[in-house]
Amino acid sequence: MLKIGIFGVGHLGKFHLNNWQQIDEVEIVGFYDPNDKIAKEVEEKYELKRFANAEKLMDKCDAVDIVAPTTYHHELCLAAIKKGKHVFVEKPMTDTLDQGKQIVQMVKEAGVKFQVGHVERFNPAYLSLQSIHLNPMFIEVHRLAQFNPRGTEVSVILDLMIHDIDIILKLINSDVKNISASGVAVMTDTPDIANVRIEFNNGCVANLTSSRISMKKMRKMRLFQKDAYIGIDFLEKKTEIIKLKSEEDNSAFTFDIDTPSGNKTIAIINPITNPVNAIKEELQSFVNSIIHNKNTIVNEIDGYLATEIAHRILDKIKNTTNQP
Ligand SMILES: NC(=O)c1ccc[n+]([C@@H]2O[C@H](COP(=O)([O-])OP(=O)(O)OC[C@H]3O[C@@H](n4cnc5c(N)ncnc54)[C@H](O)[C@@H]3O)[C@@H](O)[C@H]2O)c1
Repeated sequence: MLKIGIFGVGHLGKFHLNNWQQIDEVEIVGFYDPNDKIAKEVEEKYELKRFANAEKLMDKCDAVDIVAPTTYHHELCLAAIKKGKHVFVEKPMTDTLDQGKQIVQMVKEAGVKFQVGHVERFNPAYLSLQSIHLNPMFIEVHRLAQFNPRGTEVSVILDLMIHDIDIILKLINSDVKNISASGVAVMTDTPDIANVRIEFNNGCVANLTSSRISMKKMRKMRLFQKDAYIGIDFLEKKTEIIKLKSEEDNSAFTFDIDTPSGNKTIAIINPITNPVNAIKEELQSFVNSIIHNKNTIVNEIDGYLATEIAHRILDKIKNTTNQP
């Protein structure tokens, strides 16, 4: 059995706990959380041991799950890597870029498995596209949430947009050429809403809007490529493809339209999405990478690269709008 300790059992930490309990290869050793009220609740409900400090719990584990606020990710990751423990850390991997660089170096030296909680990589809507050739040239993203003080220790870029940055970096095999960005701090001291345009060397343009001060929730990514439109709804866990019909699209709903270059047949495809629990999938995947000595699906380099783009965006916002 792989011995796991959980660091931070607040909102997301409790979801992790519930999922760890469903993973066969794992034994939960206990948790560390400095908040007495939250810790008491968890001790009673889950009958789990609360450790008096992080180091003591780490010593008893093979792997750690860090679900503390972002500002604590670096120190907890460092302590765990120094002890040779495998690390799962929530997104964003770190608050600052220097912290991220240090982690990348230390993971390499220690040879431990390291995974970042970019959970959308395990979202059924995204996974349903695995067999589709994706080569978008234009991407439009909206990730909107209602205001919640949780997560506001960092800007909306590091809190919400980072999910889409990670997916886009995975989709586009090209370097970032230019970034323009605008953001406004409405409820907190850092941007709560932002619009960002990322241009890639291959010509792809991604236009991202993220807000944590909206009235309704939305998590949509729309991809446009030469022969297709692909809509991914991360919230509803649904995907839609509208494309020029090809021979493989025989079972799709189709209709014809006249265009200046002749009659074209359009196919509408709704790939089947498996109703999987993305959090359980990402934790199971982390465990599998330890047990079978395989690379993690979202590693420390992915975590660093997403944070690096997030900081380039934040610098742009600072320079263009005088926001903190
Ligand atoms: N992947 C996702 O979609 C997603 C969603 C929500 C939150 N998150 C991330 O998860 C992390 C936690 O977010 P949350 O919403 O659960 O916050 P939260 O405030 O509800 O919980 C954080 C918990 O960590 C505890 N804590 C504080 N300092 C600690 C320390 N040094 N060591 C251990 N525990 C400590 C707090 O007492 C609290 O119980 C953040 O980094 C956030 O960005 C990710």
